[in-house]
Amino acid sequence: MLQATEKEYLDPTITEDTTTPSSDNTKLKKDWSSVRDIRQETNTFGTRLLENKDDVWHHNAWDHVEWNEEQEKAAKQKVSLQSNNPMKLEDRQIFLKNPSEYWNTFYKHNENKFFKDRQWLKIEFPELHHTTNSESGNQKIFEIGCGAGNTMFPLLSINKNPNLFIYACDFAENAVQNNKEYDLKHCKAFVWDLTNKGIPMEHIEPNSLDIVVLIFVMSALCPNDWVQAVDNVYNMLKPGGLVLFRDYGRYDMVQLRFKEGRMLSDNFYVRGDGTRVYFFTSGWWIIYVYVLMFN
Ligand SMILES: C[S@@+](CC[C@H](N)C(=O)[O-])C[C@H]1O[C@@H](n2cnc3c(N)ncnc32)[C@H](O)[C@@H]1O
Repeated sequence: MLQATEKEYLDPTITEDTTTPSSDNTKLKKDWSSVRDIRQETNTFGTRLLENKDDVWHHNAWDHVEWNEEQEKAAKQKVSLQSNNPMKLEDRQIFLKNPSEYWNTFYKHNENKFFKDRQWLKIEFPELHHTTNSESGNQKIFEIGCGAGNTMFPLLSINKNPNLFIYACDFAENAVQNNKEYDLKHCKAFVWDLTNKGIPMEHIEPNSLDIVVLIFVMSALCPNDWVQAVDNVYNMLKPGGLVLFRDYGRYDMVQLRFKEGRMLSDNFYVRGDGTRVYFFTSGWWIIYVYVLMFN
């Protein structure tokens, strides 16, 4: 049976470089990423097909897995159990107010050692890597909710573009302070809350960004703040600019493992350390962009 480590429970993305139990309960040292089998040079995203049931423990996720009715029913039952036993009303306010405090404490304890460098970025977001080519010209990127810089620093380390500039922000001061030494010619990190009313004009002009990166960040916001957050992103992007977004999906094992008494509102939970997480369906982003454009 798969046992989640505490870290895996908090964020499945960190399983990339940790060990995972095998079917015979012995710990295997992982040599694959969560989205790509790095043992096979030619392997690309979308090719991890579970053809032999005995291989089930060889990856922590498989591509194109179709749930059967029984599995879907079990997942829905679990979530309905959670929603019938939500967090007590009087406790909810604690986690809705000052969410940055919990992330600040998180980074105080974990510094920059928790999240791993995002090795899958190149496969999932080739547009991002393209900006580092010497001939890519002026490129302005803004990583929001950058944490300890696990996206920004790997990008800067391969950068060959003299005209690339990366802005990075997080609302947890300790995260930004944890960021390593960086070259001010190519990047600037600062504290900013994505749900603020208005963009950080002291750093970023309206309609000036080529790319906004949001990796496991929107899930940390209260659904009531989504419209403001999307509005801010929209106002900073150039016409035709890109939003590169990755986040938790509905019925992810992380969601199904939540115990009763942790749900704040539908599909929105509080972890043991007080940080919050929402589980999206794929139509979410489209709906919010639509709301922005037609309101
Ligand atoms: C799950 S972590 C992901 C960190 C980083 N993007 C990565 O992939 O390693 C979520 C991050 O979002 C930040 N965050 C949450 N809400 C935010 C907000 N309203 N404004 C800015 N940053 C926020 C947290 O402080 C935390 O660093």
